[in-house]
Amino acid sequence: MASEQAEHTVGSGQAAGHRVILGIDTSCDDTGVGIARGDQVLANVVVPQTALHDRFGGVMPELASREHLEVIDEALERALSQAGLQLSDVDAVAATHGPGLVGALLVGLSYGKALAWGLGVPFLPVHHLQGHLAAATGVEPPFLALIASGGHTALFAVRSWDDVEELGRSRDDAAGEAFDKVARLLGLPYPGGPALSKLAEQGHDQGVKLPWPMAGSKGIEFSFSGLKTAVALLLERQPDVAKADVAATFERVVVGSLLEVTRRALERTGLRRLVIAGGVAANQRLRREVAALGEELDVQVSFPSPALATDNGAMIALAGRLMLGGDEELAVGGEPIHDALGTDAVPYLPLAPT
Ligand code: KG4
Ligand code: ZN
Repeated sequence: MASEQAEHTVGSGQAAGHRVILGIDTSCDDTGVGIARGDQVLANVVVPQTALHDRFGGVMPELASREHLEVIDEALERALSQAGLQLSDVDAVAATHGPGLVGALLVGLSYGKALAWGLGVPFLPVHHLQGHLAAATGVEPPFLALIASGGHTALFAVRSWDDVEELGRSRDDAAGEAFDKVARLLGLPYPGGPALSKLAEQGHDQGVKLPWPMAGSKGIEFSFSGLKTAVALLLERQPDVAKADVAATFERVVVGSLLEVTRRALERTGLRRLVIAGGVAANQRLRREVAALGEELDVQVSFPSPALATDNGAMIALAGRLMLGGDEELAVGGEPIHDALGTDAVPYLPLAPT
C-alpha cells in the first residue's frame, strides 16, 4: 500500500534558480522518494512495508530489500507526478548511503547512482541522520539536535552543517525501538510508536510504577532497555494490569527522560535553538513537552512536520541540497561530485566523532 504525503507543495515554476534534487531513502523498511527545490518539498512519496514485517514483530532485512526493489520505480513515478516534473528536470540525485540495513541501503543507493549517471547529473551520498536534521527546514545552525528514531537516540551540537559533534547517545536501545518492543509486549502492531501513543491517551500516566532511566546520572546519555525489561516483568507478574496505564506511564517516562537529558545538553552547550528529529518526533506528548521546555528556557524549538519526521526521501533531498554549493563548482566533502559514484553502502556510520 502506498501513502503519499505532500508537504509545503509549491508550483514547479517557483523558486527558480534553485536546483531540483531527487532524494532516495531505503535505509530500513520504508521506500522513500522525494523531490526538493531549495528548501521547498515538491514531492514526498513513502511506500511503507508495515504489513510485510508486522507478523515478525520487526523488520526482516531480506524481505525489506526485495520490497524496495519491487516498488522503487513506481515511487519515483509518483514523486515526479506529485511535483509536476519530468526526470529531465532533476539537477542532482541524493541517496542514503548509511547507516542502515546494508541490503536495503544498496537498493536505493544503486538506483540513485544509476539515475544520476544516466541523467549526467551529480550524485550526492547522504548520511541518513543528516537527512533527519535537514528535515527541520528553516532552521540554521548553530543548534542542539535530538534525533530519536527506531535506530538512533542521540544529541548533537550542530555548530554548522559540516561541524557536528555528538554529545551523547543511548547506551542500549533507541527510544523508537523501546516504543516498538513495549508495544509488542502490549500486543500492539508494528511499528509500535503510534499505536502505543494512541493507547496511552486512554490511560493514567502514573498508573503503574516504572524505573526512571539513568536515575541520578548527570551525563548526556540515554538508556531504555531497563525500562522495557521492567514492563515485561510487570506484565508477567500482573497479567490483568490496565494496558493503557502501562502505555501512558511508559510514554511519560520515555519522554521525560529524553527531556531531562536534552535540558542538560542545552544548559551545558548554551545553544539557544533546539531541533527534534527522527520518527519519535512525531510523538504528540514529546512535541508538547519540548515546546514547554523551549518556553521555559527561552530556547527556539523546531520540529520537522510529521510527514518529514519519519523516514522519507524528501529529507534526503533537503540534506543533499546542503552539500551543493551556491552556483560554484559542485563538491561533496571537498571531493569532486563525480567521485561520489564510487560510494559504498555502510551499515554502521557515525554522523560525527564522539
Ligand atoms: O526515523 P524513523 O522513521 O526510522 C528510523 O530511522 O528508525 O523512526 C521510526 C521509529 C519507530 O520506532 C516508531 O515506533 C517511532 O519512530 N515512532 C513513534 C511515533 N511515530 C513513530 N514513537 C513514538 N510516538 C510516535 N507517534
Ligand atoms: Zn530514520
